[in-house]
Amino acid sequence: MDLLIKGGTVVTDSHIFKADVAVENGKITMLGQNISPADNTNVIDASGKMVLPGAIDAHTHLAMPFGGTISSDDYFAGTRAAACGGTTTVFDFVLQDFGETMVDAVKRRDALCAPNAAVDYSYHVAVKDVSGDLIDSIEDAVKFGVPSFKVFMVYDFGVTDGVFYKVLKKAKECGALIGVHAENNELVNMLTEQYLSEGKTSAWYHYMSRPEFVEAEADMRAIQWAKALDTPLYIVHLANKDGVAAVTKAKDEGYTIYAETCPQYLEFTCDVYKREDGRNFVCSPPMKGEASRIALWDAINRGDIDTIATDHCPFQSYEKDWGKDDFTKIPNGCAGIENMYPYMLSAANEGNITFEKAVELCSANPAKIFGCKDKGAIAVGKDADIVIYNPKTEFTITNDKMHSDCDHTIWEGKKLFGYPEKTYSRGKLVFDNGDFVGEKGWGKFVKCSIK
Ligand code: URP
Ligand code: ZN
Ligand code: ZN
Repeated sequence: MDLLIKGGTVVTDSHIFKADVAVENGKITMLGQNISPADNTNVIDASGKMVLPGAIDAHTHLAMPFGGTISSDDYFAGTRAAACGGTTTVFDFVLQDFGETMVDAVKRRDALCAPNAAVDYSYHVAVKDVSGDLIDSIEDAVKFGVPSFKVFMVYDFGVTDGVFYKVLKKAKECGALIGVHAENNELVNMLTEQYLSEGKTSAWYHYMSRPEFVEAEADMRAIQWAKALDTPLYIVHLANKDGVAAVTKAKDEGYTIYAETCPQYLEFTCDVYKREDGRNFVCSPPMKGEASRIALWDAINRGDIDTIATDHCPFQSYEKDWGKDDFTKIPNGCAGIENMYPYMLSAANEGNITFEKAVELCSANPAKIFGCKDKGAIAVGKDADIVIYNPKTEFTITNDKMHSDCDHTIWEGKKLFGYPEKTYSRGKLVFDNGDFVGEKGWGKFVKCSIK
């Protein structure tokens, strides 16, 4: 036995119980009362602490070429920050190039990620081109261990309705899962043009050009196609109340429609775009009104939100400043990889959700939905991806305490109740009381299978 975490309170997605946790060769090997250590076992006293499965962030954009630049956390900085926020697996988006097979896209990206990742990682492929035989490369990627894909309905690399439909159909045939960034591109472009022509250029008009109905309409359309094909669909970064209602309805009708939201949509409203630093909050979809924020929390408590992820896509202040006088020049995205688990666990500590729910949303469900069978629980046989969490620590987020390379955080000043003390990745200590203690290249590719 290499590691024994003694006297803590273990949390799973369904239970909370006192147990010691034994770890050997990176795996959880025993759970029980009064487990005795072996001679060389590293014994950690976790009394008064909670012992949680590491979080799985199913939505990150590390070193992604986007918005005229590259997101500012590379694979090392992003996964270092993840480790320091209790996240032990990240799913990053690979943007397929035109003419490239899905597996080649993954391999191209993996050459960058593998030597740098500090925690385990997997991928979703963002599909651009399914012309000719490329559609069949979806099946090859499933066999390779990357069974999840994303289509964008917006941006210059967004797909047409026809391509989206074709991808959904292929996914049904080969057991892949399609995620969607749902916003109506035509409406975004039309409203953007209108506001710019009226000289309305501040960050507020980022929200005004992508209001509630622009997202909701696309959610409904995407859900309609998934229903028509009777194939599962995963809606990423859901942020609006009518989209939530459409998800609830589809689930009630028995369809497999998964919904992900992000901490920024649970915390902030579109009012942030009126702030002096509003451009730092520019992401797509934008934060919406208070009714949408409340609808997301209600959906969490009803069980209609399946996962929380970050959409971590940071840009430095000087890059955000490109859009001071023109919101269309602000690179879209915010940092959040280090904040997700502490934020959701703080919500549990404050009584807004249960700790089991936080574990379900941030760890157990992403493991189940994306098929990483060794992750997502404190249980015998699982990877020893473990967070020791002190529910009594009070922590105020400031950028100087973060471990990302980004020079600012939208979470500046946010007070959290409880905070991770230690993070283990497959039994190796990677975060210890405020410090990253892991190593570049430790992270391994996680082969997924959702069949
Ligand atoms: O603004 C965002 N969300 N940037 C990252 C790309 C995306 O849409 O997920
Ligand atoms: Zn997106
Ligand atoms: Zn994203």
